[in-house]
Amino acid sequence: MLYRLLRTIAIGSTLLLASVTGGAHHETTQLIIDADIFSVVDDTAALFLASTLPNVNLLAVNVHTQSSALAVSAIAGHHGHTGVPVGLLRPITNDSFFDDWLYERREYASKVAYHYSNGSLPWGNATDAWDPVALYRKTLAAQKDGSVTIASVGFFDNLSGLLNSTADAYSRLPGPALIAAKVSKLVIMV
Ligand SMILES: *[C@@H]1O[C@H](CO)[C@@H](O)[C@H](O)[C@H]1NC(C)=O
Ligand SMILES: *[C@@H]1O[C@H](CO)[C@@H](O)[C@H](O)[C@H]1NC(C)=O
Ligand SMILES: *[C@@H]1O[C@H](CO)[C@@H](O)[C@H](O)[C@H]1NC(C)=O
Ligand SMILES: *[C@@H]1O[C@H](CO)[C@@H](O)[C@H](O)[C@H]1NC(C)=O
Ligand SMILES: *[C@@H]1O[C@H](CO)[C@@H](O)[C@H](O)[C@H]1NC(C)=O
Repeated sequence: MLYRLLRTIAIGSTLLLASVTGGAHHETTQLIIDADIFSVVDDTAALFLASTLPNVNLLAVNVHTQSSALAVSAIAGHHGHTGVPVGLLRPITNDSFFDDWLYERREYASKVAYHYSNGSLPWGNATDAWDPVALYRKTLAAQKDGSVTIASVGFFDNLSGLLNSTADAYSRLPGPALIAAKVSKLVIMV
């Protein structure tokens, strides 16, 4: 638990630092978060900071479970970001979290999602979620060159999918070239 807590603080500090660095230049951090909100609070802390810091513009969030997607929408919506698009891997399942490692943690995302339904994906609307790689490509293509920060606080499959992606309706650039053009900073939780 202590390790996860320290990691949470490290992530928070990293995002904070990213935003403060931007603030020093009177710039807003254009941020995409890739997370796995379901069992511990590190991702939620990152999302909370991203939703509340004045010099962060939360562009999009990618997650990997249905309740995570709905919880992200609820948390961002609660803080006024009702339009933030959320990407969710397919096929959509109701796979939940069971802590058979420490037998201490519990799944909380579905509770947050149900009781605080809000934002672009209200409770019951998970099928409206974006495909994560399509959301990456659409979001990056719409931003200025060299302007986007990606914070990866979860699994790497969707970043891998972005790297593997090819030209589409959003951009003629393949994934690596799109990243090279648009992303200025990649912050990864280790
Ligand atoms: C979303 O959250 C905001 C802020 O708490 C609240 O004002 C609004 O009523 C909520 N919307 C819904 C649909 O619950
Ligand atoms: C997941 O659970 C919700 C709420 O009970 C339900 O509406 C939805 O159809 C389920 N989705 C799947 C893919 O089973
Ligand atoms: C959620 O789904 C319902 C039923 O399909 C639809 O009427 C509604 O517009 C959706 N809400 C959002 C925010 O997409
Ligand atoms: C997104 O990541 C999930 C795992 O986190 C993976 O299963 C899924 O295939 C990825 N989506 C794409 C389009 O690569
Ligand atoms: C991307 O391509 C690599 C190399 O072919 C492969 O190992 C990886 O699984 C691919 N990623 C996704 C998300 O499909």
